[in-house]
Amino acid sequence: MKKLLAIVLSLVMVLGLFAGCGAKEEAPATEAPAAPAAPAETEAAEVSYMDQLIADAQAEGTLVVYGSCEEEYLAVACEKFQELYGIEVQYQRLSTGEVQSKVEEEAGNPSGDVWFGGTTDPYNVCAAEGLLEAYEAENASHLLGQAYRDADGYWYGIYKGILGFMVNVDELERMGLEKPADWADLTKPEYQGLIWLSNYNTSGTAKLVINTMIQKYGHDEGIQYLVDLDKNIHVYTKSGSGPSKNVGTGECVIGIGFLHDGITQIVDNGYGNVELIIPSSGTSYEIGATAIFKGCEHPNAAKLWIEFALSPDCVNLAQDNGSYQFLVIDNATQPAIATEFGLDPENVMDYDFEDAKNNITTYVEEVFTALGDSADDRFKTE
Ligand code: F6P
Repeated sequence: MKKLLAIVLSLVMVLGLFAGCGAKEEAPATEAPAAPAAPAETEAAEVSYMDQLIADAQAEGTLVVYGSCEEEYLAVACEKFQELYGIEVQYQRLSTGEVQSKVEEEAGNPSGDVWFGGTTDPYNVCAAEGLLEAYEAENASHLLGQAYRDADGYWYGIYKGILGFMVNVDELERMGLEKPADWADLTKPEYQGLIWLSNYNTSGTAKLVINTMIQKYGHDEGIQYLVDLDKNIHVYTKSGSGPSKNVGTGECVIGIGFLHDGITQIVDNGYGNVELIIPSSGTSYEIGATAIFKGCEHPNAAKLWIEFALSPDCVNLAQDNGSYQFLVIDNATQPAIATEFGLDPENVMDYDFEDAKNNITTYVEEVFTALGDSADDRFKTE
């Protein structure tokens, strides 16, 4: 069934070449998609804020989205926006750290309009660098709490994901190894060469792991932990979901990452040999975000995207498209399956976003320094 959906999705994306919505590298549409009529100002004495925003966004005609959630969810969200508002959407999936590097390079002249999904730490760094546009969203009134937005409106939360381990139980049994129960277990010599994590340069997930270890163990001990962990790491993947995608096949025996990505492997890809582990001493979490790039070409379409991303029209698409994060607006339908797998959005450590925001760039450098020259090749990205 999922394969069929994937084929249908692929066909939709191919048709997207002609209909407008599609991956950014693809040729833009030659004809603008049929747009729902914008409200004429003469028809109504008062045009609501949303009606005016929709009209202004439609006049801009196009939106460019950089998405750091999984591509399947990104694609359907972009299609839905295009279908609702008749605005051509181009998108590209990039890891959170890659988007950060891109907008930093573009230095206020961004090639994209909005950022959708991905961990908050890189969003906070970009906001501090003046690369995001503040916007007071109407639909922010639906957020489950103030923690799910930037105080100044530079980003808004769209989901919450829990960090943990995903293990291949068949492989562990074949090797006569116990499942790791906690972070400290991962540095045991018996797991040498069995663990995968994502790359601290590119992946927001990996940056969250650095902050989590420093907050859990203290600065020096946290960095030492990552040096010890490195001895057991076989592969650092570009994307945060990379480890999860290789656990079922046994290529990766223990993956560190977001547990909702493990659910995707079990439920959507049928890997019954994958088990999720919530670290026993506690774990941290991400707030997945969305934001507008400062100086973007389509500012009204970008604002409309933020309203859309904070609505059930958008976030309810996630669980039907393999993304099982908890949702953070009060009118969304939570993915019951995440709870069935034992995940609890409240059972997380008190992650210090402020410390992460102020120090992650330095922490990444410190980790690479501590790893030494031998680590150079393992973290190279194109
Ligand atoms: O499901 C994909 C996901 O795990 C998101 O929850 C998360 O925000 C994103 O990947 C992070 O991706 P990356 O680590 O590649 O930046």
